[in-house]
Amino acid sequence: MIALRDIKKTYDQRDQRIVALRDVTFDVDTASFVSIVGPSGCGKSTLLLAIAGLIPTDSGVIRIGNASPTEAKSKNELLGMVFQRPVLLPWRSVVDNVMLPVEILMENRSLPGNYTRYRERAQELLDMMGLSEFHHSYPRELSGGMQQRVSICRSLIYDPAVILMDEPFGALDAFTRQRLNRELLEIWEKSSKTILFVTHSLEEAVYLSDRVVVMSARPGTVREILDVDLARPRPAEVRNSPRYHELVARAYSYFQDLL
Ligand SMILES: Nc1ncnc2c1ncn2[C@@H]1O[C@H](COP(=O)(O)OP(=O)(O)OP(=O)(O)O)[C@@H](O)[C@H]1O
Ligand SMILES: [Mg+2]
Repeated sequence: MIALRDIKKTYDQRDQRIVALRDVTFDVDTASFVSIVGPSGCGKSTLLLAIAGLIPTDSGVIRIGNASPTEAKSKNELLGMVFQRPVLLPWRSVVDNVMLPVEILMENRSLPGNYTRYRERAQELLDMMGLSEFHHSYPRELSGGMQQRVSICRSLIYDPAVILMDEPFGALDAFTRQRLNRELLEIWEKSSKTILFVTHSLEEAVYLSDRVVVMSARPGTVREILDVDLARPRPAEVRNSPRYHELVARAYSYFQDLL
């Protein structure tokens, strides 16, 4: 579903040139869950922004299905993104922020369906994310983690085939994070979506993923791809199993030099 070949990306910062990504090559199969882990600054957000067609690369090829990132961006039903910082419109209530992509896509006539049905779906998603009492609050009235949960709802509302998630659970407490890991897996198991997920938590990456792409420090490149052979569906207790711990230990072994 996503094919990346020899991606290179540099940034010019005043007097210096930063190589953020080099030779990044890997595939994400349709309906699979793939995580990216790597040290801070290794280019994970850069890679997601490039796949989403929001920044150009210097060289290399990115395909999403049969489309380039720019083509995929114009077909909004294909691709959704959760950014590292929640980007919510301050003048819109929580439920209206979740409904934003639906309104834009209906305006462009690229989304079929019934507005009221989507609004019900927005409310269901917010309830599921533990925000039942906050449908009509404004972003400034929410904590950082709550805002992030709103932006996760917004990425799920119109059911895109591919979702790119940049540390969506980074600002959450450990309990909410574990609960939302389960919720996300349930949504994914039911929906055959393709998810590319950036996280700093190796435990979270192993628990959620079919494959974990381990990146090197900047300039970021693929260091290893870890296949996670834990059976699915994965109840929370999987995290107590010896195989899970073995895989997490293997993931940590790639970062020995940072510990
Ligand atoms: N807009 C930009 N202009 C210039 N340099 C940038 C820009 N965005 C990122 N960089 C640089 O590119 C490198 C990779 O940044 P990026 O945000 O992709 O890393 P990351 O892996 O997502 O890090 P983190 O885990 O901390 O979120 C960094 O060295 C950063 O300074
Ligand atoms: Mg980042």
